[in-house]
Amino acid sequence: PLVPTGELITRAAAARAAVAAFNVITLEHIEAVVAGAETAGSPVVLQVSENAVKFRYGRLLPLARAAVTAAERAAVPVGLHLDHVRSDDLLRQAPDAGFGSVMYDAARLSYADNLAATRAAADWAHAQGLWIEAELGEIGGKDGRPPLDAHAPGARTDPDRARDFVAGTGVDALAVAIGSAHAMTSRTAVLDHALLTRLSAVSSVPLVLHGSSGVPDEQLVAAVGEGIAKVNVGTALNVAMTGAIREFLAARPEAVDSRAYLGVGREAMAREVGRIIGVLSRADGG
Ligand code: G3H
Ligand code: ZN
Repeated sequence: PLVPTGELITRAAAARAAVAAFNVITLEHIEAVVAGAETAGSPVVLQVSENAVKFRYGRLLPLARAAVTAAERAAVPVGLHLDHVRSDDLLRQAPDAGFGSVMYDAARLSYADNLAATRAAADWAHAQGLWIEAELGEIGGKDGRPPLDAHAPGARTDPDRARDFVAGTGVDALAVAIGSAHAMTSRTAVLDHALLTRLSAVSSVPLVLHGSSGVPDEQLVAAVGEGIAKVNVGTALNVAMTGAIREFLAARPEAVDSRAYLGVGREAMAREVGRIIGVLSRADGG
């Protein structure tokens, strides 16, 4: 069934566990994430980013409708989340499109501007009954910027600011820059576990890890124990799907039916979803 994302994250945070949140761009992605979560028997978050909406000719509804339908029919609880929203116009479409939560991304702005914009977004979101996540620090690796930028200590989330930002904006969760970066195709990130522990100690809300595709499994497990309650994964699913499709087409140059390769890609993606949920479940119960 479709459930409010906030309920999933709140329950996970209370248990020092984490919910996996997977980015979806196509119908096959939605099907793969739901199938992988059903096989694992775990709740999951389906998230649609502003960049995914841009790919869909700027239209949210076609993908949103598919995600709502898939969530409603799923055998496990599914939350729907609008991810990395910068456009106020897109933000305002979230409730009617069926989303229970949003990530408002003003992290590129100065601290003062991020705070003001995020507070306004949070006030609006809460009036709509939406759960809202925001980012402080710069996780990096989006919009073609080199992922390694985020590994610079200067881009990381400062604990004093994190405490003030959460209090000043009223957000329900905080995305932190602790050494992961978006769009990494190998698991070579090195998380700053000491910083994460300090951030958890000062934050009154659950913390979110972005760019989790580049984080080695053991570090993911450790990060959940240190206070990460939502683990965002996008690139790893594309690595699995595209790799399987590339291999299939190389072996069958005569193939033309798109169901043949999309089906192979979807299965590979569903397996990766199940694998990642399995890794996170190792953190359950300590
Ligand atoms: O918000 C989405 C995530 O941060 C995904 O990052 O594609 O590097 O796994 P990733
Ligand atoms: Zn992200």
